[in-house]
Amino acid sequence: MTARFLSSMLLGMACMASFGCDEKLSSVAGPTPTLEPTFASIQTDIFQTTDSSGRTPCTQCHTSTGRNPSGGMDLNPNVAFDQLVNAAVRGKPGAIRVIPGDPDHSYLVQKLEGDASIVGRRMPINGPPYLTDGQIKIIRRWIAIGAPR
Ligand code: HEC
Repeated sequence: MTARFLSSMLLGMACMASFGCDEKLSSVAGPTPTLEPTFASIQTDIFQTTDSSGRTPCTQCHTSTGRNPSGGMDLNPNVAFDQLVNAAVRGKPGAIRVIPGDPDHSYLVQKLEGDASIVGRRMPINGPPYLTDGQIKIIRRWIAIGAPR
């Protein structure tokens, strides 16, 4: 278990350095086997859909369709990128949802990991299931390579 975790950490670090191993990262994508570190893939596989773990899609709550989006954050596909990248956090003044190149300080990652610094709850708010370590690692990598559109 520990060795496996360490080797996946090392794999993640090697990927960030080389940008060359999406396929191997996908093998840690667990319940979303087609998940890749691109915005389109994260939108489709994480924000809008459930997966084999039974996790709730983010857009069940983070949508402007028929309601006010939870946390003031709309993850509908036409607006999600601009709602995230370089966008201010509503629940924690001064924080930014996605800071290109800086996954550690991106509030999206902190909320998904349940970091001690967050305001409110770990996401999805009705978890578990939460995202797996592998799914979060892939989101981290998209941010690390500059959070491209
Ligand atoms: C069942 C409803 C629900 C689901 C599903 C859900 N959220 Fe949330 N989310 C909330 C609520 C309510 C808040 C505001 C309270 C809080 O921050 O705890 C929130 C807040 C947030 C915030 C902070 C926004 C801000 O600017 O303060 C982020 C980031 C977030 N959610 C990400 C996600 C992601 C990513 C997913 C899917 C993996 C997700 N949430 C799934 C209800 C939900």
